[in-house]
Amino acid sequence: MKVIITGVAGYLGSATAYKFLDKGYQVLGIDFMKRGQGEALELLSTFKGFHFALLDLASELNRLKEIVKYFKPDGVIHFAAYALVEESMRYPYEYIYNNTLSTLNLLEAMYRSGVKTIVFSSSAAVYGIPQRVPIKEEDPLEPINPYGASKVIGEYVLKAYASVYPLRYALLRYFNPAGSIEGSRGKLREHHFTITHLVPKLMEAIREGKTFKIFGTDYPTRDGTPVRDLIHVEDLVDAHITVFEALLREEIPSGAYNIGTGRGYSVREVVETAKRIYGDFKVEEAPRRPGDPPELIADPSKLREHTGFQVKHSLEDILRSWKD
Ligand code: UFG
Repeated sequence: MKVIITGVAGYLGSATAYKFLDKGYQVLGIDFMKRGQGEALELLSTFKGFHFALLDLASELNRLKEIVKYFKPDGVIHFAAYALVEESMRYPYEYIYNNTLSTLNLLEAMYRSGVKTIVFSSSAAVYGIPQRVPIKEEDPLEPINPYGASKVIGEYVLKAYASVYPLRYALLRYFNPAGSIEGSRGKLREHHFTITHLVPKLMEAIREGKTFKIFGTDYPTRDGTPVRDLIHVEDLVDAHITVFEALLREEIPSGAYNIGTGRGYSVREVVETAKRIYGDFKVEEAPRRPGDPPELIADPSKLREHTGFQVKHSLEDILRSWKD
């Protein structure tokens, strides 16, 4: 089986490629290497079934078309995107341009080669500030930042192509993925272009003695700090494999699926869990971070009902996966 994985040098793209390679797939990874990590590619390159194309999806449509035509994948998993909410507030043009054109060009290349299966990395950011939690897939899409808007546009690009040829697609709306992944070649660590996320910031405080800042303690939540649905990257990757194979077998309908656990932890609860595992570290209360919704919790039942998929890992597992 053959799969194209875009954004293959990024955190989620590399973790997913690793598991597909372990399953014996041929993987053609695409990345423009402006943000992805070389170490992740080094690990993937130890597999005979791994191929790599250095390519900017947003500006190299003709090359992309040739690559897709030549490789003839069974399907595509599209991670490549800029993915930092706060940055998107400062660079709306770059976010909408890069994320939207990448998706449009990829779909055009797939269409022209007759590739009919795609899994798209969407985000809980498409929901904006949810009117209710847990969030269901049919809840309104009201993004509150350019990143979320670029994902809504991406979802519509897929739907547009699904109206012109028989495309099978899944819009996977991730909540808060975190943690490192294990495979046949050892551990592939959680890695980001810049360290801004909750779990990496906690680990920085634990390992380097920095002070961890809690952004906002006056939210309308049980302890005043924001609540998030953290999903172990192992579970997120398993969800991709399950969905991709179910789409290929035409066992599930095309559409949106939440990728979360259904359980929310407050930032303070995550801090306390990290202290139980790693011991004490410095914590400071700081003002709210602009653009943060108070509470994001997935209703993951749609994916479970269609595929039987259930998460296996806890918050403790996520935090422990950072151990050496
Ligand atoms: N947080 C802190 N201190 C830190 C880092 C984070 O208190 O040092 C808090 C944030 O304020 C937030 C929570 O931890 O309340 C989670 O923050 P992350 O940056 O880890 O994740 P986000 O919830 O902001 O981002 C996630 C996804 C995005 C998606 C977004 C939707 O990573 O892709 O949810 O709002 F767009």
